[in-house]
Amino acid sequence: MTDWDSFDSEAYAASNYGDRIHAEDEQIIRFVVTELKKLRIPFGHMRHAADIGAGPNLYPGLLLTPYMSPGGTLELVDRSAANLRHLRKAMDDAYGSAASWTKFEDLLLRLGHRTSLQRLRDIARVKEGSIFELPTGRYDAVLCFFVAESITTDREVFAAGLDSLMKSLKPGGLFITAHMVGSTGYRTGTGNSFPACHLTMPDIERHYRPYGEFRSIFASHGVWDAIRPGYQGMTALIGRRPPPRPRATNR
Ligand SMILES: C[S@@+](CC[C@H](N)C(=O)[O-])C[C@H]1O[C@@H](n2cnc3c(N)ncnc32)[C@H](O)[C@@H]1O
Repeated sequence: MTDWDSFDSEAYAASNYGDRIHAEDEQIIRFVVTELKKLRIPFGHMRHAADIGAGPNLYPGLLLTPYMSPGGTLELVDRSAANLRHLRKAMDDAYGSAASWTKFEDLLLRLGHRTSLQRLRDIARVKEGSIFELPTGRYDAVLCFFVAESITTDREVFAAGLDSLMKSLKPGGLFITAHMVGSTGYRTGTGNSFPACHLTMPDIERHYRPYGEFRSIFASHGVWDAIRPGYQGMTALIGRRPPPRPRATNR
């Protein structure tokens, strides 16, 4: 049984997002920004969105922020007490938190993505919850980065998490997800180890096919760029659940 409350949020944030933007994260960010433009989603219209298993990572939220309506809410959902604490602190002071999120904000602004940490703080609501217990048909968009494959070794559990995530979207809802490819598990700081489901890129894409059309990228690292041993790369996927079917009329 994994002890999620012992997740070392500070060490995880510092090693993954602290001193620089890792090559794979930058590839993912550039890919998502490009694909969002292609989807022609209007700015400022989404009311309910969530980042599931948000952990200490704020860049998925920064990617979605321009699409949220002025009164909209982006739920930052996690089941780890340590990560919920870290997120609440980061939302109180995103500019002072361990990982310097301004470098992500700067990259996104350079790419023409109209986002800001301040805006993210305005719309974010940190919330305890689980990927396996999401409301059905609630969200206009969901984010889920390095979660479904990074909480279990079991492919059926990965599939159940993904299914719950997809069912939490409204018809036509947007999903932006990322997964570790070929991961053998990970550690936070010098503390506990955490499980991973060892999936190839074709495995991951096959799991997504029943949920609608999507685009994906395999983000790779050079010899010296790996964030840790024990994985092959990362993937990001973006797509929309099929829109509602038009009602049949009797005429
Ligand atoms: C590898 S971390 C990814 C964190 C972050 N999304 C990122 O991109 O770095 C996995 C995250 O899943 C969270 N988690 C574990 N079990 C969960 C569950 N059942 N539902 C939602 N989140 C969960 C952990 O607390 C942790 O924040």
